[in-house]
Amino acid sequence: MTTTAEPVALRDAPVLDIDPYAIEVLLDPYPFHEALREAGPVAYIAPHGIYAVGRHAEAKTVLADHARFTNAGGIGIQDIRKPGEFRIPSRLLEADPPDHTKIRSVVTRLLSPLVIRRWKEGFERKAESLVEQLLAQREFDGVEDCAERFVLEAFPAAVGVRLPRTETLAIGEMRFNQSGPRNALYERAMQTAQPYLAWFEQSVSRQGVIPDSIAELLFRAEDAGELDEGIASNVVRSFVGGGTDSTIAGIGFTLHQLAKNPAQWERVRNEPAKVKAAFEEGIRHETPFQVTYRTTHGETELSGVRLAPDTKIGVFMGAANRDPRQFPEPERFDVDRPALAGSHVALGNGIHACIGQMLARQESEALIGALSRRVARMELTAPASYRPINQMRTLDRLPMRIVPA
Ligand code: HEM
Repeated sequence: MTTTAEPVALRDAPVLDIDPYAIEVLLDPYPFHEALREAGPVAYIAPHGIYAVGRHAEAKTVLADHARFTNAGGIGIQDIRKPGEFRIPSRLLEADPPDHTKIRSVVTRLLSPLVIRRWKEGFERKAESLVEQLLAQREFDGVEDCAERFVLEAFPAAVGVRLPRTETLAIGEMRFNQSGPRNALYERAMQTAQPYLAWFEQSVSRQGVIPDSIAELLFRAEDAGELDEGIASNVVRSFVGGGTDSTIAGIGFTLHQLAKNPAQWERVRNEPAKVKAAFEEGIRHETPFQVTYRTTHGETELSGVRLAPDTKIGVFMGAANRDPRQFPEPERFDVDRPALAGSHVALGNGIHACIGQMLARQESEALIGALSRRVARMELTAPASYRPINQMRTLDRLPMRIVPA
């Protein structure tokens, strides 16, 4: 990959006339993913005038190469530096070095493995108590009654924010729709979230966060001059945005596949190490954070395609995680796939790789581990349904039944 001074030739990239944000594509993105991967290593998405990658190799390359592909244009489809496209950027995710490096090093220190491991027992207690209640119910919704209930209890207490369900889900939907195009989903999500915007501002402020929590330590880092003014609240906002809906989605996908595949559930029940693998495979198989964007700094070349400066390029992580060049029989959910954690891109790659990944893994392991010890069988009582969101894949309903061990 070398920088080139030759003129841009659009015809270098195959053109796809599919809208990745059409409702039917969001509800079933897999035919689009296949078309994207098979069109070539890089394709031009005509309805939105952007480029996109869907193969695993190019997805990894773009995410890793922050020197050629900037985050400052925003991780959504719009270039937030352009007039009329501004929204409050994440000062961590939508920044490049050296600003990103400075903030990330403070957050990495506060969210260290040692700190996260201290939350393990609390997560396990919460998971066991929830599984006890679910066993009494027998039939429940795997999204609302299980994944959402667990994450909305475990995650906010751990990082130090207060997250009531209705408000939090509305803000989450706004965030993941707002980074897509201005379609009906975008407009509706902005409207639904409107009454909760003031609440959200307050929750991520110094006065709103829980004293002595990680969130409050960020404000203390501001006081100590380690972070510039205004960064702490912005990072807490990124924690809530990055850590809630995605973990709920990931746990939902894992439960869905385990309920559909009794032999896989048996593997998880018989071998505790497979609890970890199940979540990892769950987020590979149905990637919660479906697509992220980068913008070219200057004119550059990617796998033989010339890209002009300031070109938006969508990294379709959901497509990359089902690339048969990387994952044999990618549509199959298989907890025995080798080296899962290092191979999928559901948690990103490079300097912006998910900073909360250990936390997400620990939450999901607590819940799926508790289920594996107490539940002999899980089954669906009706087909699962999906909630269309521009930049995210998530379940809406997961009607299920569990049978005690
Ligand atoms: C299954 C759960 C999760 C998934 C699928 C997920 C996915 C991702 C992905 C794909 C990225 C990189 C995006 C890009 O490069 O454009 C990312 C970054 C990030 N995630 Fe997560 N995430 C999850 C859980 C969490 C949690 C629990 C937190 C809470 C702290 C969190 C906070 C963040 C933050 C702050 C970033 C930005 C990091 C940076 O720019 O340096 N995420 N996440």
